[in-house]
Amino acid sequence: VRRDALERTLEGVHVAISAGGTREPLDPVRFIGNRSSGKQGYALARVAAQRGARVTLVAGNTADLATPAGVDLIRVGSAVELKDAMHKVAADADVIVMAAAVADFRPTSLTGHKIKKTSADPDPITLTKNPDILVELVSARREGQLIVGFAAETGDDTTSVLDYGRAKLRRKGCDLLVVNAVGAGLAFEQENNAGWLLSADGSETPIPHGSKAQLASVVWDAVTARSTEPQ
Ligand code: CTP
Ligand code: CA
Repeated sequence: VRRDALERTLEGVHVAISAGGTREPLDPVRFIGNRSSGKQGYALARVAAQRGARVTLVAGNTADLATPAGVDLIRVGSAVELKDAMHKVAADADVIVMAAAVADFRPTSLTGHKIKKTSADPDPITLTKNPDILVELVSARREGQLIVGFAAETGDDTTSVLDYGRAKLRRKGCDLLVVNAVGAGLAFEQENNAGWLLSADGSETPIPHGSKAQLASVVWDAVTARSTEPQ
């Protein structure tokens, strides 16, 4: 059955979605960032709202995107801010989708003043690991809560994109993982995405090449199918 995007299959469901990239501050004017546009997270929010969900969108840095109609937007900067916002929103969410590009590392020390140029060579930037927000949300999961992760993989000589995705699903412990093949003009800053939807129950669905809205529809169809399954 083809589900129309306007069918209100998520009525009464509160979904929390993270989108965009985090910015890890070095000093009051500088940060380490990434190329995430936030388009996939915003598409997920738009489609969920069209399907009747109550949507909270937690957005890091994004391209200049319009907030989808009927969506509550929370702005964050760093991974630590995103983590705090997601834990707050998760306490009341039925579905959590981590579509944000969370920086894996942040500068170890944040100076309160602008780092000044001197005649000496600059100090190297030392980094420390950020918390894994998805893993934390899975540990804190409430009964019946469904958690969806994203993975962008290139694959390499020894391991395919899909195998990296399977390993990541196990490591994160989420219910669903969207695996995107990236590199060579795929995914980042693009209108279109391609990949697989992996489920903790072992099912693997190829996601046909299409728009980020179409990928969002695949994700929400899978969420609806799982939440209406007899327990
Ligand atoms: N994620 C997170 N917190 C982090 C890093 C990632 O919540 N500190 C989430 C992302 O939002 C995404 C999923 O985890 O939903 C996978 O992110 P990814 O960067 O692919 O996985 P990592 O565990 O960081 O592994 P790596 O980057 O080494 O492939
Ligand atoms: Ca990462």
